Amino acid sequence: MLQDSFGRRFYYLRLSITDVCNFRCQYCLPDGYQGEAQQFLSLNEISTLVNAFAQMGTAKIRITGGEPTLRRDITDVIGVCANAQGISKVAMTTHAGRLAKLARPLAKAGLGQVNISLDSLDPGQFALLSGHDKLAAVLDGIEAALLEGVNVKVNTVLLRPFAKEQLRDFTAWLKEMPVTVRFIELMETGQHKTFFKSHHISAQPYLAQLKAQGWTPIERSKDAGPAIELAHPDYAGRLGFIMPYSSDFCDSCNRLRITALGKLHLCLFADQGLDLRDALQSGDVAAVKAFVTDSLADKKVSHYLQEGITGITRNLSMLGG
Ligand code: GTP
Ligand code: 5AD
Ligand code: SF4
Repeated sequence: MLQDSFGRRFYYLRLSITDVCNFRCQYCLPDGYQGEAQQFLSLNEISTLVNAFAQMGTAKIRITGGEPTLRRDITDVIGVCANAQGISKVAMTTHAGRLAKLARPLAKAGLGQVNISLDSLDPGQFALLSGHDKLAAVLDGIEAALLEGVNVKVNTVLLRPFAKEQLRDFTAWLKEMPVTVRFIELMETGQHKTFFKSHHISAQPYLAQLKAQGWTPIERSKDAGPAIELAHPDYAGRLGFIMPYSSDFCDSCNRLRITALGKLHLCLFADQGLDLRDALQSGDVAAVKAFVTDSLADKKVSHYLQEGITGITRNLSMLGG
């Protein structure tokens, strides 16, 4: 079992399979993807990696990007993860622009949960925030995933001055929609300091307001992400909050990250990444395990975002969020 020097255990691997994205979310890639074509991890490398982590106690794998569905072999990637011995949950984070078509093959390959980035239910505002006029396609993708029995969560980054509307519209939507909407506090990245200053808003008052309206926190499972999730008897869906600026946010950290180029990141912020690519290319599961176990000793207690330290993280598409 992977454990760090603060006693935190790691059940959950976030694996980015591409840096490329075709959306232009204002807080992430406002000018679109600018990188050059690179050799992202191959299926064989992914298989080596996933098996090594599974042997070290990882039970849940989340595929991220960039936009993971832009990889032609996305279904095979999900299959490799789902078929690894010891992996009980395979999830993916996506903008869902292509999910309507992909939901069935992905579900068949073993995808159990999809988290969808969706910042507004208003078509005009959605286009403004994501750089694309694809709200209808995203909503179709959500329906398709639900029809396939895939669990759906929506990620909504709270942004000034839209936060009140975001809360109102998504809460109303949840009356009938059996999904979980998580409101995320905007995180400061190296590239977006000005955007952060003008748009960041704390979620604390909204959480307090919803609790007063009868939303009650539900228990977190040991492989859960960082959200506080709440339920209400009158609503089909659930609400959640991801508040990285809370002082205890990192205490429950249970996840490690691998970039699409095979670097291990011990935190979303504040580390350079440790290069695992040679071990992955050689297919040496034992070497991967030794590398990860040794590296974990350096994991820090916190991301230090409260101090405005963003490390090398320019935007979250670099690291898969
Ligand atoms: P579940 O597994 O469904 O709970 O999802 P998740 O919240 O772990 O994953 P998702 O990809 O949907 O991420 C939602 C948001 O949480 C994104 O903005 C992530 O960047 C953020 N997040 C996830 N893990 C961490 C973390 O360790 N640190 C920080 N600062 N943010 C995180
Ligand atoms: N702060 C908070 N959330 C972010 N995301 C991307 N960039 C940021 C940021 N700076 C979210 C996306 C996606 C998830 C992986 O991360 O909306 O849902
Ligand atoms: Fe693409 Fe996700 Fe970044 Fe939006 S947040 S630009 S969907 S990688």
